[in-house]
Amino acid sequence: MTTTRAIRPLVSHHLLLCATPTKAKCCDPNVGAQSWEALKQGVRELNLEAPERPQGIVLRTKADCLRICEQGPVLLVWPDGIWYGGVTPERVRHILEEHVIQGQPCEDWVIRRSPFSTPASD
Ligand code: FES
Repeated sequence: MTTTRAIRPLVSHHLLLCATPTKAKCCDPNVGAQSWEALKQGVRELNLEAPERPQGIVLRTKADCLRICEQGPVLLVWPDGIWYGGVTPERVRHILEEHVIQGQPCEDWVIRRSPFSTPASD
């Protein structure tokens, strides 16, 4: 007899926010903390953590430092490799609705792009 394991939900995006870094090199920790709360609330309110979401769930992580250390708070969106600077609670909501849900990055706030490389084909 074979056993089956629960199928884990797909992941559509992983959002990493440098919000309250230990050394506070890149942002006002108060704005960072508010942005983190807005991110948690927005993901919950927009139902982005629902395992049944067809596109996959959205993961979020509060990072101590994303090693860019400028224009923070910084929000990095994978798998797109898009870095947002000057994040605020209001911007978090726009980024969730326009980028994560609709697939349209908020270009005015993008400070860097670093997409995954693709393996060279033979
Ligand atoms: S302290 Fe924010 S990226 Fe380094």
